[in-house]
Formats: sequence, structure tokens, C-alpha cells
Amino acid sequence: MIALVAAEGPLLDEILASTFEIWSEGLSRRAYAKYNAAQRTTPWGRAHLRHWALVDGGQMLASAKEYLFDATLDGRAIRACGIGAVFTQPRHRGRGHARALIERLIERAAADGCDLALLFSEIDPGYYARLGFTPIPTCDLALRVVESSRHGAPAVLVRTGEDRDLTDLAAMNEVRAFRYRFHLARDRDLIHYAIAKKRMMAGLDAPGARAVQFFVAEEGGSACAYVVVRVRGSEWTLDEADDRDPAGARAGAILQGLLARDPAERRPSIRAWLPAGFRPPQIEIVGERPSKAVMMIRPLTARGTRATPLSAADVFYWYGDLF
Ligand SMILES: CC(C)(COP(=O)(O)OP(=O)(O)OC[C@H]1O[C@@H](n2cnc3c(N)ncnc32)[C@H](O)[C@@H]1OP(=O)(O)O)[C@@H](O)C(=O)NCCC(=O)NCCS
Repeated sequence: MIALVAAEGPLLDEILASTFEIWSEGLSRRAYAKYNAAQRTTPWGRAHLRHWALVDGGQMLASAKEYLFDATLDGRAIRACGIGAVFTQPRHRGRGHARALIERLIERAAADGCDLALLFSEIDPGYYARLGFTPIPTCDLALRVVESSRHGAPAVLVRTGEDRDLTDLAAMNEVRAFRYRFHLARDRDLIHYAIAKKRMMAGLDAPGARAVQFFVAEEGGSACAYVVVRVRGSEWTLDEADDRDPAGARAGAILQGLLARDPAERRPSIRAWLPAGFRPPQIEIVGERPSKAVMMIRPLTARGTRATPLSAADVFYWYGDLF
């Protein structure tokens, strides 16, 4: 009989062994296992993150990762079930197992009070459209940070971000996110998880291969703006950023400061998702194309059903929240 089971121990090991090739992002096999385990030791991961497997007797057919989020849709608090890393064992493909796994996860989530299912398609979105998901068309942006001709650091008090800043960051996010129709409840624990996950990835990769830059601008002893940048060679990913000031000039100044530290270095390419309206004046958008990971949602309850479709401008979402 085919059953959906929470994957732990040897079953989880089997999932990681099978998915390593596609999702290890250059980590060693051991590091990939540690990376997955470590995510579940964070306060957010412990409570909201789980692997599931579809098994038939002793055989695993398919697996996926589930993320349970608190979120807001059209001003109402909702619960969203994120589904990621959908994988069918190669010898069992084409027999509807991924479909069955997703349907069962959704059924379970709905019974548990989830209003919406959310995923990011790395394959043809048509597959998920047939399962009732609709895309929210977002854009991958290429950014340039405008620098002063003397390449000096701007006059903002900038320091490394710390755990004690997370409450300030969550408050900033809450104020900004309010004006968007759909956003996750980016509380302290979720922001901590998002940053910790990237740090783990950097720490587990070969020395020097990756780094995470988490910097805040300070005002009156508390964080008033911040940026989280993932660095891999000459590629920067702006994972998230915010500023108490709507214009975002201090977040932009932090980015200028990061670049000014290495005046002789070749300028990195910077990619990001930027929520509509968050455009620090120091940032220029130099490229824009439909997102590679297509955000898709499926309503599970009346609360999770929107009156009109969501567009990119309606969504407050960062690369740092991708799963
Ligand atoms: C995508 C995947 C999960 C589908 O698993 P599955 O159990 O074979 O899926 P189902 O049997 O439910 O559905 C099969 C359908 O998936 C479609 N499909 C498989 N790979 C696809 C892809 N890359 N793009 C679009 N559709 C795809 C097949 O064309 C088939 O379509 P059909 O039903 O019209 O013939 C499986 O191919 C897999 O594990 N791929 C590697 C991991 C991956 O890419 N996961 C998706 C991350 S978003």
C-alpha cells in the first residue's frame, strides 16, 4: 500500500543520497547531509520544516520538503504550506507519484489548517498548472550599485549584523510588507533561519568559495537598515534588505560601503528580487528577465483564495526566502 510518511533516519538518508546530484550546489555529500540536518536545528527549522516520502512497502517512490509559513494574503493572516525539492526516484518516474505526493501533502496541509500551497517551479510550470497551481510572474533583476567617483565609503555607521538586530529587522519588514497583498510573516525566527541557512552553506563549502555579508546601519543604538548579500566568486545575490526609511537610501549606502572596501576589485554582478517600490537611490536595474524559479500558488481554503490574480507588484518576497 502506498503511504505518505515523515522521513527521518535511513529514509531521510536515502532522500539526500538521491537528491544530492541535483540540489547540493557544489557541496560534498557529507556537507550536503550536514546542511540539511543543520537547517532543522534552527528554531524556525525545528518547528516548520520537514521531509516527506511516498513509500510503497519498503520502497521509496518520491519525496519532498515541506515548509509551514505564517503569511498574509489581502490583509488576512493565513497559513501557507511551501512544497520544495519534489523528487521521484528515477526508476519510478512517469507513473503519477510526484502528483500523488503533492496531492497528499496538500490534503494533509489543508486538514491542518493551511490556506494556501506555495512552490517554486524549476521545471516547466505547466506541470504544476495541471495540479491547480497558478504562477505569480516575478522578475530576476541584475543590479548595479552607483558609486561615487572617489570610491569612498558613504557616511553611514555600518557594522556586522548580529542576532540582537533580528527584532529590528522583523519590525522593518512588517512595516514595509504591510502594503503588499501577499507576504510571509518574516518574524525574527524566519529571518534568522534565512540568514543561518546561507551561512551554513558558506561554512560547509570549500574555504573561501562562498561568504555571507550581513551588515546593518545603526541609528541610536539599533539597526535602521540592513542588507544580506551572498557572495560566490564575482557573483553577489542580494538575499534581502530593508530600511526604516521608505526610500531605502541607507540600505543602498551599505551596499556602496561594501563595494568601497575593495576599490581595486572588479565589480561583482549583483542579482536580486526587489519588492516593487523598494528602490534605494544608489541602485540601478541593469537587467530584468522572468524568474527562473517560478512562484506558484494554489488556494486550499476560502481565506487562501484571492479575489483578483496576484502580480509581481503585489508580492513582498526575497531570494532569501526561496526554497
Ligand atoms: C519532475 C518529477 C518530480 C516528476 O516526477 P514523476 O513522478 O515522474 O511525475 P508524474 O508521474 O506525476 O508526472 C509525470 C509528468 O511529469 C512531467 N515532467 C517530468 N519532468 C518534467 C520537467 N522537467 N518539466 C516538465 N514536466 C516534466 C512529464 O512530462 C510527465 O508528463 P505527462 O504526465 O504529461 O506524461 C521527476 O521528473 C523528478 O524527480 N525530476 C528531478 C527533480 C525535479 O526537477 N523536481 C522538480 C523541482 S520543481
